Amino acid sequence: MKIKVAPSLLSADFSCLDREIKKVERAGADLLHIDVMDGHFVPNITIGPAVVKCIRKVTKLALDVHLMIENPQEYIDRFADAGSDMITVHIETVSKNTLRAIGRKLRAKGIKFGVSLNPGTPLAKIKPVLGLVDFILIMSVNPGFGGQEFIAGVLPKIKQLRALFKGDIAVDGGINDKTAKLAVRAGANVLAAGSYIFSAKDKVRAIERIRNA
Ligand code: DX5
Ligand code: ZN
Repeated sequence: MKIKVAPSLLSADFSCLDREIKKVERAGADLLHIDVMDGHFVPNITIGPAVVKCIRKVTKLALDVHLMIENPQEYIDRFADAGSDMITVHIETVSKNTLRAIGRKLRAKGIKFGVSLNPGTPLAKIKPVLGLVDFILIMSVNPGFGGQEFIAGVLPKIKQLRALFKGDIAVDGGINDKTAKLAVRAGANVLAAGSYIFSAKDKVRAIERIRNA
């Protein structure tokens, strides 16, 4: 499977997002990972649809919008209309029926739909919804902040999921050249990485090192 690298904007310098985005675009990013936090589902507040709309204007990269928010169904339209190419909601925040409704809506708009699960959430929670989504995002840190350490305990979950799911499996949190290798070996093919890429002087090299994992 093709390995895709998704720099996470959370670790960028927010005072010059345009420039930061262009740097990773030129350096070979496949997607732009955008972390949306509401101060309820996670203890941090970040980016809303207005900012996603501005980001849409400055890049051709696919916008991979990761919603770490409660009641995502209430905000889906706004993020979709802001220009998202992919939207992920957390399994901890929705019922199966809501997830199905969100998926239907996004597919009708041509937007890819994913579901994510926290490190502490068992795989069993997403098994019933595997047929309703295009991709899965496995959290390898407890969501809320960039720069945390990769939780290796999620590796068996990735491996078990790969045996059941043929679509893209993304891993998010604590990804660097070493942990990317572990994640890919377990079966992941999309790597979201914030601090490792944005703190690197040579972003081409940082992205290549993750891609070659
Ligand atoms: C964590 C976010 C991640 C985060 C990754 O809540 O969902 O996307 O930005 O940052 P690093 O790569 O620094 O762990
Ligand atoms: Zn994320």
